[in-house]
Amino acid sequence: MKVLVTGAGGHLGRPTLARLREDEVDVRATGRRARQDSDVEWVVADLATGDGVAEAVVGVDAVLHLASSPRSRTHQVDVLGTRRLVVAAAAAGVQHLVYVSIVGVDRVPIPYYRHKLAAEQVVAAGPVPWSVLRATQFPQFLDDLLASSSRLGPVIGDRAVLAQPVDPGEVAARLAARLVAGPLGGIEEYGGPQVLRFDEAVRAWREARGSRRPLLPVRIPGRLGRELRAGGLLTDALPRGVRTWADHLADTYGGTGRK
Ligand SMILES: NC(=O)c1ccc[n+]([C@@H]2O[C@H](COP(=O)([O-])OP(=O)(O)OC[C@H]3O[C@@H](n4cnc5c(N)ncnc54)[C@H](OP(=O)(O)O)[C@@H]3O)[C@@H](O)[C@H]2O)c1
Repeated sequence: MKVLVTGAGGHLGRPTLARLREDEVDVRATGRRARQDSDVEWVVADLATGDGVAEAVVGVDAVLHLASSPRSRTHQVDVLGTRRLVVAAAAAGVQHLVYVSIVGVDRVPIPYYRHKLAAEQVVAAGPVPWSVLRATQFPQFLDDLLASSSRLGPVIGDRAVLAQPVDPGEVAARLAARLVAGPLGGIEEYGGPQVLRFDEAVRAWREARGSRRPLLPVRIPGRLGRELRAGGLLTDALPRGVRTWADHLADTYGGTGRK
């Protein structure tokens, strides 16, 4: 099987390439700039402009669509870019397109999530047999969020928000299994092993970093806050990942006491 991975250089892309290599899958990877790699064929494709997309899917059996642009041009990249990819994949006779989305895109009112939901609908309405895998947050995302929310000193956040971090390596394994199982024609969810309150996540993060920064609680207002506190980012789908927030912290900060 020849598999195209979009967004292959990202947080999920890297372990996905590693996993597919272990499974001896023939992989083509996309990024917006040229790369050299002895194990993987890299091609340049930009979903915002469509440059290189038609060429990237030629000769491919399945696509793992991971590319996303949460911070800028989200509609252009995630919705219109996904449509470009689906059209190109159909023309090239691709047999399975797997779209990676996020648990809660249909509940939590964040503009990025609205675009992810629209992209899911593009995939589901298209002619290529499809699957959607919604994952919960990656620990690196939570780590980056805590670092940026503590730039001014204390860690600022809503202590009752609930999260369920999942290891991207385990998501990659799930994606590899989905390729083998074939198109679901539906949505599956995959989450981490534990539900964490924001204040618990902060406590463990501070300990791992040897930091004394206090938590400055703020209550996220409105429907957004209600959804986040009520578990809008959680899934009870089984199976779940096994690697915990504590595992991520130990891997990242173990013994260094970095602030
Ligand atoms: N982060 C999380 O916690 C989380 C949780 C659940 C689901 N997800 C989903 O999982 C997927 C991967 O997330 P991630 O954290 O790995 O993202 P990431 O690290 O930000 O990587 C995103 C990738 O998208 C590519 N990209 C951005 N703009 C592009 C464009 N115009 N054309 C083509 N490629 C473009 C980038 O490629 P280059 O810069 O190399 O060109 C990058 O490698 C996303 O769909 C995301 O919504 C993420």
